[in-house]
Amino acid sequence: MKKVEAIIRTMRFEDVKTALEAIGVESMTVTDVKGRGKQKGITQQWRGAEYVVDMIPKTKIEMVVDDPLVEKVVDTICTVANTGKIGDGKIFIIPVEDAIRVRTRERGTTAL
Ligand SMILES: Nc1ncnc2c1ncn2[C@@H]1O[C@H](COP(=O)(O)OP(=O)(O)OP(=O)(O)O)[C@@H](O)[C@H]1O
Ligand SMILES: [Mg+2]
Repeated sequence: MKKVEAIIRTMRFEDVKTALEAIGVESMTVTDVKGRGKQKGITQQWRGAEYVVDMIPKTKIEMVVDDPLVEKVVDTICTVANTGKIGDGKIFIIPVEDAIRVRTRERGTTAL
């Protein structure tokens, strides 16, 4: 099992969610986050002055999935969340030791 953690543009979230459903990923945790990538935020103009927006609002999606599904999830997110501009987001893949469904005590992929 792997946790796929994707930090994407908030405006792309609904479409990403729909596309993930279509490949069988229903369970997820979604958080509003703030962050920055390698551009360290963005510079904007306002009333002739330049100011830097350091931390940009994004949406984080966390899904724990069975190994064979990981590449499909990554491909789906990269396709649907992509605008081609800087700041489209990032995906991290983290190994997961175990999962437990509290109600039934089922473990591993059965608990997903
Ligand atoms: N190395 C990192 N560690 C933790 N979070 C990160 C890292 N890189 C990016 N993020 C998170 O992902 C969000 C989107 O990053 P972003 O898409 O700007 O990455 P990037 O590396 O700057 O790529 P790009 O050049 O396409 O903008 C950031 O706002 C931040 O929340
Ligand atoms: Mg960036």
